[in-house]
Amino acid sequence: MTSAGHSPTRILYYGDNLEVLRNRQWFPDECVNLVYLDPPFKSQQDYNLLFKTAKGTPAAAQVQAFTDTWKWNTAAKAEYEHLVSAPQVPGRVAKMIEAFYQFLGGSEMMAYLVMMTPRLLELHRVLKPTGSLYLHCDPAASHYLKLVLDSVFGPGNFRNEVVWQRTSSHNDSKKFGRVNDTILYYSKTQRFTWNPQYTEHDPEYIEDFYRFHDAERGPYRLDHVIRSATMGPRPNLVYEYKGYTPPWGWRVTRDKLQALDRNGRLEWSKRGRPYLRRFLYEMKGTPLKALWTDIPPIGAQANERLGYPTQKPVALLRRIIEASSNPGDVVLDPFCGCGTALVAAEELGRSWIGIDITYLAVDVMKRRLRDHFPNIQFKEDGQPKDVEGARALAQRDRYQFQFWALSQVGGQAVVSDRRGPDRGIDGYLPYQVGSQVERAIISVKSGSVGVSHVRDLHGTMQREKADCGLFITLEEPTAAMRKEAVDAGEYQMLGIGARVPRIQILTVKELLQGKKPALAPYSPGPVIQAPRLRRRSGHQLGLGSGG
Ligand SMILES: C[S@@+](CC[C@H](N)C(=O)[O-])C[C@H]1O[C@@H](n2cnc3c(N)ncnc32)[C@H](O)[C@@H]1O
Repeated sequence: MTSAGHSPTRILYYGDNLEVLRNRQWFPDECVNLVYLDPPFKSQQDYNLLFKTAKGTPAAAQVQAFTDTWKWNTAAKAEYEHLVSAPQVPGRVAKMIEAFYQFLGGSEMMAYLVMMTPRLLELHRVLKPTGSLYLHCDPAASHYLKLVLDSVFGPGNFRNEVVWQRTSSHNDSKKFGRVNDTILYYSKTQRFTWNPQYTEHDPEYIEDFYRFHDAERGPYRLDHVIRSATMGPRPNLVYEYKGYTPPWGWRVTRDKLQALDRNGRLEWSKRGRPYLRRFLYEMKGTPLKALWTDIPPIGAQANERLGYPTQKPVALLRRIIEASSNPGDVVLDPFCGCGTALVAAEELGRSWIGIDITYLAVDVMKRRLRDHFPNIQFKEDGQPKDVEGARALAQRDRYQFQFWALSQVGGQAVVSDRRGPDRGIDGYLPYQVGSQVERAIISVKSGSVGVSHVRDLHGTMQREKADCGLFITLEEPTAAMRKEAVDAGEYQMLGIGARVPRIQILTVKELLQGKKPALAPYSPGPVIQAPRLRRRSGHQLGLGSGG
């Protein structure tokens, strides 16, 4: 992996982060400088994504982006058994997990914690000794996660519990408003990268503290230059300067004090006590504390809003990345959603690696990265590379296969039920006809296929008054299917005179070879409010920012 001076690492993995992280060829020990993770927070909710229609308005159906519901089941129990008995799990982690089980029993919270613990162990393994980890969560599980992190990193490596005020709206009439997220910050060792961060001085603070004025250098305040009783004596710093000998010593050596004096930085009170002048122009701002109230959430109208549920502000990630990494360092986000950490890392000249388990997230992220950085090159892994890979994906998760297939043609997914308005439709493909944007109906099949499926697509097109349809199939279509598609005829695109088949069939093999539908692509993306489309009307999901 990369550090400053080499070509940057930029990799997007599709898959379960535990499996991806356990692949030691991809993730050898100590290969990343900073981890930011924003896992589902145990909100017991499902998070949906709404696609834009070609007109920029929201599509009727929502697609579930990811779930945040946890069950104590056989898999969770097996993970628990592994954590408490496997020799490679450090004893203190096993003990902590056992203690949780004593207290929580086989509960949803326990299921959540046994999901998180092995991932935190892997993240600790891949961190460099100077690295840090920031775990974004909320008060629902932060108290348990802190104990898990104490056991994985060691309590001495706990650095901060950052409280980020993510909203100001009062959201519960029966208790104090729940307005904050918690970000737990740990370093791997005591030798960690740290770049202090500052916020702009508060005008009231400036008025109260910078009460003096120098004609040339502007406002300044007086600071201590001699040691106080509470600091204790430093005999080697007890010396006489201009007739003054502080009882506990000066704060600097004689040479430095003389240099400060030559530079007009010493001021003597009427009682003859020395002070240090600190000029406002030299100050970087107020050193940042662990309470962050200055980064607003992504509002409904925010330019960066994509509509991906639980999207975090880039400013938040910028702050974390600047504080705990240097240019060229590798930033890893193993739950990267729509890629906020990757965008911030790229902006700040860091290398990055993102992992997400939903193909929808990977697709949104890819479009977002290309929107922001038009010439960006990045590697992708974990996605089907051949027909067998696509078949394995379909067997594992039919919807993820569908999302993957749709993304290969720039389509937008729809999850339809039998009676819903989108019945029989797996996705839409927006395409351009002159200045107009139309949409073709897409049907995706991962099982065996026959002529009736093509007829069904044709029927759906007639019902929806769609001129074009696209049939994507994992298995090879039969001759009868091809004939049925040809019999559906051609469509003469008004205004531009081009003729295209009304029903086009594309196999997964062809998609993998790079074949595209014969339609002029138009990509509003799955995102609700991509920067390029700001003039169009957006849609709001109405979700909080919580993971
Ligand atoms: C709270 S969101 C992250 C949002 C992100 N910080 C952003 O600003 O867009 C959590 C993400 O974790 C992903 N996820 C959940 N379980 C995962 C797993 N086991 N491996 C990889 N990604 C996972 C979900 O698909 C979702 O996109």
